[in-house]
Amino acid sequence: MTDKNNDTDSAFESAAGIDSEHDATSQSTADSATEDGDETESFGTSSLDDIVLDDVEGEDDADEASRGLFDDLLSGEPIFEQKEVLRPSYTPRKLPHREDQINNMATILVSALRGDTPSNILIYGKTGTGKTASAKFVSEELEATSEKYAVACEVEYINCEVTDTQYRVLAQLANKFIEKNREHISGRIDRLESLREDVRDGESSLAETDFESIDAIESTLETLQTEREEFDEVPMTGWPTDRVYSTFFEAVDYTERVVVIMLDEIDKLVEKSGDDTLYNLSRMNSELENSKVSIMGISNDLKFTDFLDPRVKSSLGEEEIVFPPYDANQLRDILQARAEVAFEDDSLSEDVIPLCAAFAAQEHGDARRALDLLRTAGELAERDNTDRVEEDHVRQAQEKIELDRVVEVVRTLPTQSKLVLFAIILLEKNGVHNINTGEVYNIYKSLCEEIDADVLTQRRVTDLISELDMLGIVNAVVVSKGRYGRTKEISLSVPIDETEAVLLSDSRLGDIEDVQPFVQARFDQQ
Ligand SMILES: Nc1ncnc2c1ncn2[C@@H]1O[C@H](COP(=O)(O)OP(=O)(O)OP(=O)(O)O)[C@@H](O)[C@H]1O
Ligand SMILES: [Mg+2]
Repeated sequence: MTDKNNDTDSAFESAAGIDSEHDATSQSTADSATEDGDETESFGTSSLDDIVLDDVEGEDDADEASRGLFDDLLSGEPIFEQKEVLRPSYTPRKLPHREDQINNMATILVSALRGDTPSNILIYGKTGTGKTASAKFVSEELEATSEKYAVACEVEYINCEVTDTQYRVLAQLANKFIEKNREHISGRIDRLESLREDVRDGESSLAETDFESIDAIESTLETLQTEREEFDEVPMTGWPTDRVYSTFFEAVDYTERVVVIMLDEIDKLVEKSGDDTLYNLSRMNSELENSKVSIMGISNDLKFTDFLDPRVKSSLGEEEIVFPPYDANQLRDILQARAEVAFEDDSLSEDVIPLCAAFAAQEHGDARRALDLLRTAGELAERDNTDRVEEDHVRQAQEKIELDRVVEVVRTLPTQSKLVLFAIILLEKNGVHNINTGEVYNIYKSLCEEIDADVLTQRRVTDLISELDMLGIVNAVVVSKGRYGRTKEISLSVPIDETEAVLLSDSRLGDIEDVQPFVQARFDQQ
């Protein structure tokens, strides 16, 4: 991973280096192109560049393909030194403000290095509070220490959002341990084979070994080879769960070791397939002869244990560690540490990090959001061709991220909700304020007729409006109309043009564009 980063880096630097010469050229190109009013020159092929290109073309045909499309983009001073560091996939080596939680995990897991079973751990905390990052950090440290002291301790990390059924979890674990066992056996075979050769050549004797003769070595070798072949890998589907479980059981118990199974997003597993997996894993220890298993569950849903069998709940929650949300100051420290590696020196103006931290602190102290903001702000600055990220880039980034979220939510709405939302948009576009449910319903009905969709009852449409309200797409407040009862006043809470564009990109709703005059006519009549 580090190597890869370095490669990308040096490639980028050298490309940027070449370009700094080019920079002046393409700049003057752009200027002269504008003066001449000659639009065809805008890709940087003015007279000056032509000369350069002609020269190059003479030397190397491959360069004919380059017309400077990327030159302008590369020409600015690079802002990022190592952008990877701001991506979610990057596991930082330093995790400020998580020392307590990390030490707590280490104190519990250290038993594994002494050959004992650590207590099961349940980790809780809202999204972006560093649970996964801390757990991965601790597991790397644990494995590194176990190698250092040559104790058999292994950590298996499973993301239950991806691996979300008992079958898949057990199959993945079984196959990992089968692979490890094969490696383990291969190591032993290699050692025995070289011992056999040495004894044959008279370079060593069997005196200090467990073998009495070369034949004894041969027979052990044969047994090992058979064992190595006998491990049956679990296919991704098709076996009865019992068989998958027993295959995993045998694989893990093949040698003496302590195994920590990390189940990240454990709530997703329980939601999708109940608590059988956890039940089976948590009762394994009483039957294992050589190995010991401990479970670490990670969740951002504090309530998921309500769905667990009480036995599983108490076994899994032997130890609980809470990850509280970060406050703005803590987010600042986190961003500072990452920014030092990610950005070139002096490319962040003073207010950038505090502002990213403040925005993310409002979003329940989510470090992922803070890092996204910082990265997006950097990308926007890069696009502006400036060499410094300013406060304004952070504000734009905040808007962009928020808009991306809205677009995603709107894009994935069911058709009926899209129609209701579109009705609200049409009303707003026609200058109707304090929209009420009846008005929405009338437009909604005509939209349904237009595209031959089922027409829901007004009651259902009222429910759909409440759902849109909960998603933060519209704002619906109940107002009292005195003796006429109460009514809802609806307004749009998201940018109108972008939202409309997303709705119209749906193939079913695409045709609705034509009904605009029709809707207009309805208003005129009113
Ligand atoms: N203390 C910290 N120091 C540095 N980076 C951090 C810290 N806490 C979180 N991060 C970073 O913030 C991002 C989100 O953290 P992480 O993935 O660990 O959150 P999480 O608690 O597992 O969230 P979720 O519940 O959504 O899975 C990651 O990029 C992580 O590297
Ligand atoms: Mg996580």
